[in-house]
Amino acid sequence: MNGRILIVDDEKDMLTLLDRIISEDTHYKIVTESNPEKAIKIFRKEDFDLVMTDLKMPEMSGISLMEKIQEIRSDVSVIILTAYATIETAVEATQKGADDYLTKPFRRERLLITLDKVMNWQRIIRENKKLRKALQKMNDLSIIGSTPAMAKIFDRIRKAAPTSGTVLITGPSGTGKELVARAIHQNSSRKSKKLVVLNCGAIMENMIESELFGHVKGAFTGAVTDKKGLVEEADKGTLFLDEIGDLTPGLQTKILRLLQEGEYRPVGSVITQKADIRFIAATNKNLEQAIRENTFREDLFYRLNVIRMEIPPLRRRAEDIPLLSYYFLNKYCVLNEKQIKGITPSALQALTAREYPGNVRELENIIERGIIFCTGDTLTLPDLGLSSPAECLMPELNRGKTMMNFKDAKEETIRLFHEHYIRELLKENDGNISKAAEIAGIQRQYLHRLMKESHIEANEFRGVNTP
Ligand SMILES: Nc1ncnc2c1ncn2[C@@H]1O[C@H](COP(=O)(O)OP(=O)(O)OP(=O)(O)O)[C@@H](O)[C@H]1O
Ligand SMILES: [Mg+2]
Repeated sequence: MNGRILIVDDEKDMLTLLDRIISEDTHYKIVTESNPEKAIKIFRKEDFDLVMTDLKMPEMSGISLMEKIQEIRSDVSVIILTAYATIETAVEATQKGADDYLTKPFRRERLLITLDKVMNWQRIIRENKKLRKALQKMNDLSIIGSTPAMAKIFDRIRKAAPTSGTVLITGPSGTGKELVARAIHQNSSRKSKKLVVLNCGAIMENMIESELFGHVKGAFTGAVTDKKGLVEEADKGTLFLDEIGDLTPGLQTKILRLLQEGEYRPVGSVITQKADIRFIAATNKNLEQAIRENTFREDLFYRLNVIRMEIPPLRRRAEDIPLLSYYFLNKYCVLNEKQIKGITPSALQALTAREYPGNVRELENIIERGIIFCTGDTLTLPDLGLSSPAECLMPELNRGKTMMNFKDAKEETIRLFHEHYIRELLKENDGNISKAAEIAGIQRQYLHRLMKESHIEANEFRGVNTP
């Protein structure tokens, strides 16, 4: 949306001048008014980002006007226009809440720079409001996401949660698998009971039975009292088998037995006990491939793979990045007792343009660090320690670009762009050239030529996306 500006000045010539300059150089919509009382009426009815007002007007001072309109909408920006003689009053005005002031006569550039700054700030406020509203409307699952990919996951969570079906959650590290597991438990009839987490990668093989099933006093050296196992703790609740792909072969057999039989016996006990447990497993490993490589039992896989949820990497749902960023902004502002109103457009752009090998966890860490280092009231690129999107895209070029003449720099940029674009394109399309060309909207032969120029082979990318 283009910003809207209300200009109030008793001198009609000034209104005409401002209207002309701003309309020539920007796309903002302008309303001018020479009477402050009337201006207030207009302000009540219409939405403005900025009010520019003269300081000295016969009917009402600019400061009174500012106070009245800020009562109506507190976050509207105000620029005070003033003559040299009253500059102290203008300074006082900024102390009272004006964003800036311009002394008459002003230079065109100065006016445009001031406008740019203030309107940018308004954009942040609007974006902030919009995202905060979207966050409030967020679902009951405490998982942020508004992309179709995430909507599909939410739908599956809602359908799967009330059942007792075993769920297998797969996806790269940091995509929110544990969050999904917790949401399933929280939305099930088992929510008043525990969700017990077993980190399958961290458990020692010789301890698994006592860890899972517990033991009775004297079952082995060191078993000085009876001890409950995780299975008993998870009874009538959920057992979350995290990092299931890291189970050793011996442990896979034991877990399979638990899944199949639902019965267990504490170490050293003669009594078999029944467990009523819902199982959720998660892994960032490719289990189908592990089966092919004989490192994961196929029968265990089929036991687990009843309801499958595949969480996509963050780069496949980049449209969620602004919403997630604001969510983490809120979270870490509260935790760090900071008041940061928003994220600058360039920082948000850079956050959205990045690659995230560490997925949502990485984004969360960047925002947390940014908030710790932020000293102002908005999160900026330097706070986040990020480069601008253009720098991110062409790091190789940006490193010695001033050493090259323009023509060479441009050619190098295009070469890098071709290489980067084609690699990503083929990666997304599994090295399928016809599909890639169709998506890119170019001829197959042209894609071939570009690949040859960049020394890229399609078979490098075959099978990179298969789970
Ligand atoms: N959609 C989301 N909304 C809000 N927070 C999220 C979302 N996805 C992930 N997170 C946050 O990101 C962090 C990592 O998520 P989580 O631990 O669930 O990932 P994971 O897939 O289990 O990772 P790993 O494979 O490394 O164990 C957590 O702090 C989590 O709260
Ligand atoms: Mg995890």
